Amino acid sequence: MSPVLELSGVSAGYGGAAVLEGVSLALRPGERVAVLGRNGAGKTTLVHAVFNLGPQVAGSVRVMGREVAGWPTHRIARLGIALVPQGRGGFPDLTVAENLRLATLSGRSGTWTLDRVFTLFPRLAERRATLSSALSGGERQMLAIGRALLTQAPVLVLDEPSEGLAPPIAEEVIVTTLGRLEAEGKTVLIVEQNLPLALRLCERAILLAGGRIVFDGASATLQARREMLTEHLGV
Ligand SMILES: Nc1ncnc2c1ncn2[C@@H]1O[C@H](COP(=O)(O)OP(=O)(O)O)[C@@H](O)[C@H]1O
Ligand SMILES: [Mg+2]
Repeated sequence: MSPVLELSGVSAGYGGAAVLEGVSLALRPGERVAVLGRNGAGKTTLVHAVFNLGPQVAGSVRVMGREVAGWPTHRIARLGIALVPQGRGGFPDLTVAENLRLATLSGRSGTWTLDRVFTLFPRLAERRATLSSALSGGERQMLAIGRALLTQAPVLVLDEPSEGLAPPIAEEVIVTTLGRLEAEGKTVLIVEQNLPLALRLCERAILLAGGRIVFDGASATLQARREMLTEHLGV
């Protein structure tokens, strides 16, 4: 099957300073891939290069086989790729239900409905009339994931969904989400600092260091490379 997301020789940075150099990777449909790397390694820059959200990008970025370099973000997303941004996004002055309803306006048909999101995350159903600014961190993350699901995109990119969450809540949100996504055959690229969780839930891992990919392969293989994990993740 051809890749749903493919980067070839991608360099990216800000104001002439390179953050990523010569990054190449391909995601096949249905894969769950963790992106790992220290703070500042360029994980968000990689994600933002895909969605054209700020960094200067050179090289080829293909989404669903289309070369998207220079496209506006909403056009890239419309090809069928959704972002759960680091820091979560959404409209703070709208309620949970309003935020979710807005996300259904992508025009893409699919199986995700508000009711299904509320079944996946019962906490959100209880909070449906609450302003999103009043949600807890975990609830806000559920809302961001719900919004991405409601776009019906077959490819989801999650940037540090567990950041700032208490470990049991992070685990619950991520295990619930990735379990559901796996059952639906969605393709997932997830930036995740919780190494054991990432390696357990994703069959493949990509490790970024020094602006390059230093490992791309089976999570089990990376798990066995203790020296590599120590050198590049400090664990
Ligand atoms: N908008 C920006 N402008 C300038 N430099 C940035 C910007 N965003 C990130 N950087 C720099 O790029 C590097 C990588 O950042 P980032 O991609 O956010 O890393 P990560 O997500 O892996 O923590 C860091 O040195 C950071 O300071
Ligand atoms: Mg980041």
